[in-house]
This record gives sequence, C-alpha cells and structure tokens, in this order.
Amino acid sequence: MGETITIALPQVAVADSTIESPAGRIIIPGQHLPEKRMDIDVAVVQQLLSTARAAAANAHAPYSNFHVGAALIMADDPEQRIITGANVENSSYGATICGERSALTTASSLGFRALRYLALSTADSLTSPLCDRSPCGICRQSIREFISRSSNAREALILVDTAEPGTLCEAFDIDRLLPYGFNFAPPV
Ligand code: THU
Repeated sequence: MGETITIALPQVAVADSTIESPAGRIIIPGQHLPEKRMDIDVAVVQQLLSTARAAAANAHAPYSNFHVGAALIMADDPEQRIITGANVENSSYGATICGERSALTTASSLGFRALRYLALSTADSLTSPLCDRSPCGICRQSIREFISRSSNAREALILVDTAEPGTLCEAFDIDRLLPYGFNFAPPV
C-alpha cells in the first residue's frame, strides 16, 4: 500500500431551465451532483496508468493506427488484480472493440461486476486535448454498466493518461463523464 490521498470531485450545480414555445415547454436539464470525496492510493493509480500505456502496445490498430490501452481493478475482485485491454480493430470497422471495453469484457467474463479504477491511455497521442484522449460514448455507457448503483453510488474512478509535465492524469467519476447516461429499469 502506498500513500492514500483524498480527492474531491466538485459539486456541480447547473439549474434546470425551461423555454416556452407555441407547441409547449422545452426543458433544458441542468446538472445536480453533490461533491464526492474519494480516497485513492496514488501508487495504484500510477501503476494503472503505466500499465494502460504499456497495454496500448498490444492494440491491433492497422486501420486507424490509434493505439489505446486500458488497465482496471474491480472492487469485487478479492485479489485486486490488474486487468488490461487494448483496442482490437476489424476490417469491417464496425466489429472494432475499444480498449476500455476490451478490458471490461475480460473483467466481466471473470465474474466481476463492480469497477474501482479504470485507467486508459491513448499512448501515442498523450499531448492531445482531453476529448481526444477520453472514452468514446459507447465506452462511457459500458463503464457505467459496471459501476455499482447500490450503496455509495458510483464509487469508481476513470483515469485518463496525459503527457502534460507534472500531471499524473485527469480523473472522473461516471456521473461527470457521462451525464444522463442511459438507465434501463427492467419491468417488474
Ligand atoms: N478507441 C478506443 O479504443 N477507445 C475509445 O474510447 C475511442 C476509440 C479506438 C477505436 C479504434 O480502434 C481507434 O481508437 C480509433 O477510433
């Protein structure tokens, strides 16, 4: 165990608004998230980021030449092992799987369901803007699937690798990464 620090994901308070139109009210949903504090082990985070960066070397990306690596730890894994993934492209393009989902499907296939940390690295474009280094929409929804919604809701962190000097990573929880993510409540 390394040094533990507490990070605070700031409160988000963007009011809802409404606009009247001749055909009825248009609602502009805001954002309402309380501050969230989480304890993180810095050495674990650092190791996940370097493992994600190394995992990108295994990407099968002959079409895009864009290499993505992921490394995660599941909260419900008693061994707290690091599970890796990389993007695997396909000549059909549509059958491509992203690095994040590649790691998540491995974790899920091993029987784990609750994400604790997911680090990802766009290894050879680490100086790009955050939007070019952070998970795509499908991956955000897939990550959400494996974040426990029972107690201590959304206790997982998504860590984005960067080459910014003096910076370890960018960190999100799923509510900040995927506002209004889809939630299917099966009929009872
Ligand atoms: N890719 C990922 O692996 N993760 C993402 O979140 C976005 C995109 C991959 C898919 C494809 O192999 C390449 O990056 C270019 O889109």
